[in-house]
Amino acid sequence: MDQALEFIDTNLEHAIEELIEFVRIPSISAGANTDGSAEIERAADYLVNKFTKLEFTAEKIFVGASENPLVVARDPHFSTHKKTILFYGHYDVQGVDNPRHAWTVDPFEGEKRDGYLIARGASDNKGPTFAHIKGAESVLRSNTDLPFNILFVVEGEEECGSGALDAFINRGGLTEYEPFLCTVISDTSMYGPEQPSLTLGLRGISYLEVTVNGPIQDVHSGLFGGTVHNPNTVLIQSLGNLFDESGNISIPGFYDDVIAISEEEKERYVTLNANEDQYRQKLGVTSLKKAPGFNLLEQRWTRPTLDINYLSGGSPRTVIPAEARGALSARLVPGQDPARIENLIKENIRRSIPSGANVTFSREHKSPAYLLDENNPLVQPTLDAIREGFKTEPVLTREGGSIPIVTSIAACTGVPVLLIGFGQITDNWHGPNEKFSLADFHRGMRTSIAFLHQVKEYLETPAKKRP
Ligand code: BES
Ligand code: MN
Repeated sequence: MDQALEFIDTNLEHAIEELIEFVRIPSISAGANTDGSAEIERAADYLVNKFTKLEFTAEKIFVGASENPLVVARDPHFSTHKKTILFYGHYDVQGVDNPRHAWTVDPFEGEKRDGYLIARGASDNKGPTFAHIKGAESVLRSNTDLPFNILFVVEGEEECGSGALDAFINRGGLTEYEPFLCTVISDTSMYGPEQPSLTLGLRGISYLEVTVNGPIQDVHSGLFGGTVHNPNTVLIQSLGNLFDESGNISIPGFYDDVIAISEEEKERYVTLNANEDQYRQKLGVTSLKKAPGFNLLEQRWTRPTLDINYLSGGSPRTVIPAEARGALSARLVPGQDPARIENLIKENIRRSIPSGANVTFSREHKSPAYLLDENNPLVQPTLDAIREGFKTEPVLTREGGSIPIVTSIAACTGVPVLLIGFGQITDNWHGPNEKFSLADFHRGMRTSIAFLHQVKEYLETPAKKRP
């Protein structure tokens, strides 16, 4: 392992240059300018070439005519007699229209400043994915005999629904690499700047859009007001009915299946001691919405939510609009069934739609929460690897965000998904001036190397000798 770590340390500048080449490719899949299919393919080709240079067997896989290609690469010593470690990442990035003028650098130039690489995709998710590619490269160069296969699956649609990868998994695309040992994903964040974490859980999601229709076109509210239902009013009332006066979710049955966390886990989040004032200031609010009995981290990571993400309807004139629209999403926790929650939301909205107005739902998507048992035998080797890579004690966390493909991967492979983020919550994911700390990139590469060694040791230690 020392040899692999030394390779990373002495070639750090080169690794950064390689990553800069990667982030210079504007492989946007969400937001404005998404028709970048040539750039998407250029990013996929970049990876295929990189893997091929490392003597991996790499290919671009098109699951359909309109889907962005997957990059699938297996290590040179791949054998069906070994179990496989799957590294998942995504090479597609969010658009830069958020807003474009708020960027102080060219988002695709790859500028280094104050120890950061500032570029779209630097942290979400090209940098962290690349850290694992470099980690695997270094370990393979040091001629270590690995008792497992290394497989990379890097998709180009994470920011727009992971359709291609989902289809690939459903048609059995991963079966030739079975049996699996685990999946490693670095698309979460560290707990803090010097506090790396193993993220045991992610919230699930149930998203839908709602449209309320009234008159066939916008009509004069003086001529027609009071005689037809106003879609704006109907929409806000029906959505308002989902909450009580304090803004808490009041849908009957919404919390029914929520599995409460253990006292031990609760205590762990108290110990992590989140700085509420700092958190509040960062958000620019004078006080936080509190839920009695839950501390801040518990609230963010282990409690379900319901948010109205978007509302529109009418225009600022004296009209009754023909249509009002909204988007809603619930973040889900273990125990909650996304389909059941989706139905509850729909039923409760329908209940408050008067006759004379019409409601329809669209663009539904959903996935359940993910939670890894902290007693899983791979948790310790992973923590050991993070400690070695970052030279500091890692913490066990969950996160509030969702990576829907995680539950599909976990279900298909039947093995744990280890979420080891290298980014920070302050990296401006999806926003202007996205950045990735080059120190975290370096420590991420070291963690990746340490992880491969820890798992090797784990496999080679007879079960009865394990601590
Ligand atoms: N990398 C994030 C997921 C994430 C967010 C993990 C926050 C941990 C903390 C991912 O790229 C993402 O943005 N996911 C979406 C999925 C949704 C559109 C289905 C999300 O969480 O909103
Ligand atoms: Mn993202």
